[in-house]
Amino acid sequence: MAPEASGGSKVIAESNGPVALIVGASGSLGDALAAQIAPRCAGLGLHAFRNRGVCDARAETLRVLKCRAAVFTADISDWGQCRKLAESFLGEFGRLDELYLCAGVAEDSLLSGIDAALWGRVMGVNVDGPFFLLRHFARQFARQRGGLVVAVGSYAGACGRSGGAVYSASKSALVGLVKSAAREFGTFGVRVLCVLPGFLPDSKMGRAAGSRFVEAVRESSCLRGFGGTEDAARFIAGLAGMEWTSGQVFNLDGRIIPAV
Ligand SMILES: NC(=O)c1ccc[n+]([C@@H]2O[C@H](COP(=O)([O-])OP(=O)(O)OC[C@H]3O[C@@H](n4cnc5c(N)ncnc54)[C@H](OP(=O)(O)O)[C@@H]3O)[C@@H](O)[C@H]2O)c1
Repeated sequence: MAPEASGGSKVIAESNGPVALIVGASGSLGDALAAQIAPRCAGLGLHAFRNRGVCDARAETLRVLKCRAAVFTADISDWGQCRKLAESFLGEFGRLDELYLCAGVAEDSLLSGIDAALWGRVMGVNVDGPFFLLRHFARQFARQRGGLVVAVGSYAGACGRSGGAVYSASKSALVGLVKSAAREFGTFGVRVLCVLPGFLPDSKMGRAAGSRFVEAVRESSCLRGFGGTEDAARFIAGLAGMEWTSGQVFNLDGRIIPAV
């Protein structure tokens, strides 16, 4: 049973920095990103689905910073829970300057084994969720006439992966959503970007990968190796300062994506 979307709890006093929300802050990449951006944020919303404890622990470490942290829970595959998340967040902080969409799921299966339920679960989190959240924050972004959205895609979305058809399809769809949102939101000064983290060996997903897959990734990298969640989080955190980028898709590892 999915937890209901719930509001945040105030932690500490604020400064003049931006207010950010990390969706999927309980995940490996989201938590690393929280540690990177918190020092420059006045407010930081940390979203979890089932593992709220990770966000509570991260919020606790932010007490020493001038960053007011609040933890939210929601199943982002649910339209109503996304609306409640947006309302709770704006009720708590009053604005949203940076939205990081890090939540994602991968359920691998060969095409012949994919049924409608599996397809729906992965699409629900990786595509419906980002759409629902953009939709529920759109009016606020338009009112503010500025902001940043970073959606986390995957190399698999650009290149496909045997056994990863649903995941690849979902991450491809995310790119189309990002590019369309960038065109629409750009008219009121909001930047929308997508990053493809590549393979993150120290993440939950990365630790679950088989050795043959890991070796194949290593072989196809120009650098014959890869970084980790800290490296990907550092790149994502830096996008706030890249003022004239929007509608772009950044590949974060050493594999070259073939042109279509
Ligand atoms: N790890 C990699 O090697 C890799 C490579 C390329 C791209 N990516 C992408 O990078 C992003 C982050 O990956 P990660 O390694 O940090 O994954 P992770 O550690 O497995 O974290 C996944 C996050 O998604 C959240 N989530 C799952 N189902 C949800 C739902 N129904 N509603 C709301 N949130 C939900 C989880 O929340 P709870 O834990 O609280 O349930 C968690 O915060 C994902 O989009 C992934 O596709 C990862």
